Amino acid sequence: MSSGAEPSRIAEFVRDEHPSVVVHDLLNRRLPNAHVIAFANEKGGVGKSTLAFHCAVALTHQGFRVLTIDCDRRQQTLHRILEARDGTTRTLKVDLPRPEHVVLEKQSVSLLLQEIDRLGRDCDFVLIDLPGHDSPIARRTIALAHTVITPTNCSPADRDALGSINPVTGELRQASPFAQVVVALRAERLVRGLNAFDWVIAKNRVRRCEQRLIASAERDLNTMERHLGYRLIEGLTERVAYRELLAFGLSHQDLKLIPSLGRMRNSCSGELQQLMDALGLPRSSKERRIVKAARLPAPTRSAQKVAEAYREALCSTIQTHSR
Ligand SMILES: Nc1ncnc2c1ncn2[C@@H]1O[C@H](COP(=O)(O)OP(=O)(O)OP(=O)(O)O)[C@@H](O)[C@H]1O
Ligand SMILES: [Mg+2]
Repeated sequence: MSSGAEPSRIAEFVRDEHPSVVVHDLLNRRLPNAHVIAFANEKGGVGKSTLAFHCAVALTHQGFRVLTIDCDRRQQTLHRILEARDGTTRTLKVDLPRPEHVVLEKQSVSLLLQEIDRLGRDCDFVLIDLPGHDSPIARRTIALAHTVITPTNCSPADRDALGSINPVTGELRQASPFAQVVVALRAERLVRGLNAFDWVIAKNRVRRCEQRLIASAERDLNTMERHLGYRLIEGLTERVAYRELLAFGLSHQDLKLIPSLGRMRNSCSGELQQLMDALGLPRSSKERRIVKAARLPAPTRSAQKVAEAYREALCSTIQTHSR
């Protein structure tokens, strides 16, 4: 990973708030002790909320205390997935690990830090899911993060969200406004004597059948990696299973806590595990709670009926994806 952007390739950034103002503002505030992970990309629909959810669940399964903050108060995708998770927990009476969670109702950095202090004081990780556009709060979240995760799909439009590449020479023409913001904020942190955050581009929704598209996307992403100083990692492939389990607020790892549902193909869990390994998040020395397989208490008759219907729907989802 290179330490920063090549100045000639990064257009003179700065409309709106200058990074020095953003970082200066943060330095005047009490910052969280927990490791902060921002899920950011100004391109919509690339998988920010999906990866935020899977990472949060994976970390809670490892016994870490996790706070998730949904900054997208209009869509509230992460919030709705976690509500579905609560529904599954209640209906099937299983003890699924759950992060602390809050929706940021006002786009205020004071409120953001207040919520982190209120709910995340003892947390090991704070995961912040950002909406797909630039804003003062998005810039501050990126500036205060230790890890910035940017999911990206393999389409040309998704690459343009990071930078534009000359199709003939394969050279970077210009970093996108989003990439310029991230690079400038990281540089500003260094100027102020803070550590640079780890900027990780995670490929997502990769369709194995699109080999040509993947090869050209990889070439361009590798070129931009050299100029923008991010780390490119393998993310998740495109799988209907991911989408369908989200409707129940479940990640693949959860299935081992609900043995009666059966298992999905290991490749899904393998991908999620590889993603977590590649992120290289710190291992906290704090005590880790052990997540045990849940015991189902004897349900009442009507609860049993509801649970059966729910279980049936889930089982059929899982069976579809286990072939
Ligand atoms: N690996 C995947 N396989 C299949 N579907 C996926 C995958 N990743 C994300 N999706 C689906 O893509 C859609 C967009 O994902 P998501 O909501 O996580 O994106 P986002 O970047 O948070 O979007 P927004 O910018 O609107 O907040 C969702 O329907 C989600 O279920
Ligand atoms: Mg989202």
